[in-house]
Amino acid sequence: MAALPKNMEHVDRRELYTSLPVRVQYLQQFLEFSAGVDADDVVALIDGQKYIKQIIPAIVNMVYKKLLMHDITARVFSTRDSRREEDPDEWVKEEGSQIRHRKMFLRWYLTKLNSDPSKMEYWQYLDKVGLMHVGKGRKNPLHVDYIFLGACLGYIQDAMTEAILSHPRLELLQKIAIVKAIGKVIWIQNDLMAKWHLIDGQEFDDEFVEEEVQAEAAEPEGYINGHRILGNQRSDDSSSEGRPSSVSSGRSGKSTTSLGRTPEQVRQSNEVSRCPFSGMTHTPKQMETQRATTWRPCREEAVVPPVPSGIPKLHLIDGRTVCKENLGPNPFE
Ligand code: HEM
Repeated sequence: MAALPKNMEHVDRRELYTSLPVRVQYLQQFLEFSAGVDADDVVALIDGQKYIKQIIPAIVNMVYKKLLMHDITARVFSTRDSRREEDPDEWVKEEGSQIRHRKMFLRWYLTKLNSDPSKMEYWQYLDKVGLMHVGKGRKNPLHVDYIFLGACLGYIQDAMTEAILSHPRLELLQKIAIVKAIGKVIWIQNDLMAKWHLIDGQEFDDEFVEEEVQAEAAEPEGYINGHRILGNQRSDDSSSEGRPSSVSSGRSGKSTTSLGRTPEQVRQSNEVSRCPFSGMTHTPKQMETQRATTWRPCREEAVVPPVPSGIPKLHLIDGRTVCKENLGPNPFE
């Protein structure tokens, strides 16, 4: 058997399915999510928090309007199972106490999602959110088919992207950094939801620690390892203890990765990694196109950007895109 080429790293498939830190680390490496102290994505999320917090209540309202728009998702708030298609005796209402309670948790969840991701607890919580939607880790089980979770995450990403890009005062470079960082954490959350639905890796199920799921079921909403991590501002802003790496003792209890590297080594290798396409845009014409992306409105111009709404401005009707007149003028033209 040939040895691995110099720049190729080994990834152990079993570990991807049995160790949360290893899985998260693989995803972070692939997505080039920089997780170390002062790393771009972590800084972007922490710095962007104050802007995102302002739009979270609006996004939560939009998500629940969406979920209550179709019977198949609205039912889940009565049946707790999207596979059951019988209608409830009474449909939940957006103003009802149950949805108000759920909205509060989604607000807290989105605040957590946009907070410091450098502790393993952060990814454990995202994993727990995935787990709780497949009938596990809850005294009163809940099952939501993956299609609704993926769609919901896509909708949240779209709304956040639009809101951040439309922000009137943020510098373009900061907008880019926040949108990129949020996109990466949302895609890792997507994996941590999808993995509970997929049959890939089920041959490793015997290694799944059932007691941990039971322990999680015993924990109240918003708790990880006995710590309250939601709805508490101080815990979101707490010290940077454990910051250097997202890879710490998790389900597998390992402090090295499947590649046998320490978190420090991982961080160093992330720091030297470069986009394979960087440096390819060198012709004057290409540089001109790139410069156009640094456009920003002159402060004297009274440019009032539209309030971020997240409401789609384009619609496809009979295969044609309509409502283009709803779009603002293209600043790059
Ligand atoms: C982006 C996708 C979603 C996210 C991030 C999400 C997040 C959450 C969170 C954070 C909680 C509980 C908080 C906790 O225990 O810490 C929760 C509970 C719940 N979710 Fe989701 N959710 C998503 C999609 C959905 C969808 C699509 C439905 C229904 C169609 C749904 C139905 C519920 C219900 C009914 C509960 C209550 C569970 C209980 O009372 O034990 N969720 N969700």
